Amino acid sequence: MLDTKFWEKYFEVYDVLNLVIPYQELLRNIADELEIKNGERILEAGAGTGNLAIEIKKRGGMPVALDNIQEALNIYKKKDPAAIIVLADLTEKLPFVDNEFDKICSNNTIYAVPRKYREQIMKEFYRVLKPGGKIVIANIHKEFKPIKIYLAHIKQDIKKTGLLGVIIKGIKLMVPTIKMFYYNAKIKGEHKTGDFDFLEFDEQKELLSNAGFRNVSENKSVYAQQGILNSGYK
Ligand SMILES: C[S@@+](CC[C@H](N)C(=O)[O-])C[C@H]1O[C@@H](n2cnc3c(N)ncnc32)[C@H](O)[C@@H]1O
Repeated sequence: MLDTKFWEKYFEVYDVLNLVIPYQELLRNIADELEIKNGERILEAGAGTGNLAIEIKKRGGMPVALDNIQEALNIYKKKDPAAIIVLADLTEKLPFVDNEFDKICSNNTIYAVPRKYREQIMKEFYRVLKPGGKIVIANIHKEFKPIKIYLAHIKQDIKKTGLLGVIIKGIKLMVPTIKMFYYNAKIKGEHKTGDFDFLEFDEQKELLSNAGFRNVSENKSVYAQQGILNSGYK
């Protein structure tokens, strides 16, 4: 099992992802799908360093960022001192009353939680979402290959900034990028030993339907085809 120490080290370099075009697109895809209206209270489950929460706030939403690693939430707080953060574990009862949130989102988090907890987590999401509220979930799938995200980024970045710009950036960001590949390999390694279960292609859709969400969307391919996004309503 990956422990708190692992995640702390991971978060020291995590935000290098903010420079990766498919990651920027992924956050925009989720925020678009949320159809945010001014002042809506939106739970982000597994908020990490707050990148999606920051996008939600930019669009007028009021994000509540939940994570079980204080270090990640501290990084988010540095970026937005007014951030609302909640240190809690998704495998336990959520510290919110019934029908508390207008919307819920979660990005690349459920895959990090052992499969035996996933149904219970979806039921908790259902409980704390207002009737009529929307949920949007995205996760990397079982055939996730980080190199494909990286290559998609390089291709798009060459178009945007030219080859020389990409090479200069690549040299500057070499160390955090290598560390991210190393941590991703460790995450994949956990997957192979059975502690970690990447999502099956239809798992997210089924989890949402089984928890009672209605109008669950078909799979939408995101994150350079390495992730799947689904939405639904209470
Ligand atoms: C890959 S990061 C994704 C962060 C963020 N959602 C983003 O889009 O960049 C996965 C996050 O899930 C959190 N997480 C994993 N298991 C959790 C649990 N049981 N309870 C709460 N958060 C959890 C991790 O601490 C981490 O911040």
